[in-house]
Amino acid sequence: MDSKTYEKEINLTDSSDKLSQLEVKYLGRNGVINDLLKKIKDIPSDEKKDYGQKVNKLKTSIKRLIEVKKKELAGKKSEKFFDATLPGKIYPKGSLHPITYTIEEIASIFQKLGFIRVSYPEVEWEYFSFEALNMPKGHPARDDFESFFIDYPEHEKFGRMVLTPHTSSGQNREMRRLKTPPIRMINIAKCYRRNWDATHAPMFYQFEGLCVDRGINITHLKGTIDFFAKQFFGPDREIRLRPHHFQFTEPSFETDINCNICKGTTKINGKKCRVCKSGWLELGGSGMVHPEVLRAGGIDPNIYTGWAFGFGPERCLMMKLGLDEIRDLYGGDIRFLEQF
Ligand code: PHE
Repeated sequence: MDSKTYEKEINLTDSSDKLSQLEVKYLGRNGVINDLLKKIKDIPSDEKKDYGQKVNKLKTSIKRLIEVKKKELAGKKSEKFFDATLPGKIYPKGSLHPITYTIEEIASIFQKLGFIRVSYPEVEWEYFSFEALNMPKGHPARDDFESFFIDYPEHEKFGRMVLTPHTSSGQNREMRRLKTPPIRMINIAKCYRRNWDATHAPMFYQFEGLCVDRGINITHLKGTIDFFAKQFFGPDREIRLRPHHFQFTEPSFETDINCNICKGTTKINGKKCRVCKSGWLELGGSGMVHPEVLRAGGIDPNIYTGWAFGFGPERCLMMKLGLDEIRDLYGGDIRFLEQF
């Protein structure tokens, strides 16, 4: 068979239907190749081998040509249906974590009051977390800050290394950095404690305010927190200070905000409010900086006074939105995070 004939035929085919017909014509049961193979019985025996090889070669070559053509026609087909005006694929957009937004908002509220945002080590010496805050070695108050210690050689003055259990460790660092007041610090950072329940996660954030100057008193503390509460939660919010104890402040307070779910009435439609206790929600600790803490930071407590507070951004966000499980924020479940 003349190779030009089938090559031409296959190459000039412009549809897959026609190509299938050619496939049957050449390779089918009663096709050209099988006809040629049948004829082998009439071939003199010394030429049979040579003849057989030639027919097989031809078969392979036709098969190959048909395969190539098939691919070519399939490509043409999809090209034919390509519609450039169809809308493209829309990929889901990511977003920042809700706590990142919350931290940005908190920082901007305090920046309006002239507070400087700072950042101090997340893995810190024990000294800054405890001794500098009037909690000497072995003091039972340290137990309240259920800390994670790091397996690292002890420093002769600063002690062991610890994952900061609270942002108050930044107080001494900031006093050392500025040397003389006025100090207006807002320290927002990760903290770690051995806790795990609906309102505690082992990694959480705190934002710590510290204000030191001449003549600073409790009214400044209350006014500042009140400003924050109104900005962050809305104009109807009020705060109150409740006596408490911290080693590094004297006097010390728990700081509460009035509940906007039940509007302080403790009841919603006759049922007990799910969010608050007695109409108030706790934001965190605060107080007037203890003279020993000022002294440890190189500031004379006879000239200067100051206040400090340490609150949780997660708590604030939960109270703003009515969330009742802090661990949802760090569970990494995209269905939860997507809502923000
Ligand atoms: N550091 C305290 C805590 O984590 C909070 C606090 C900060 C209290 C500043 C008083 C002053 O519980």
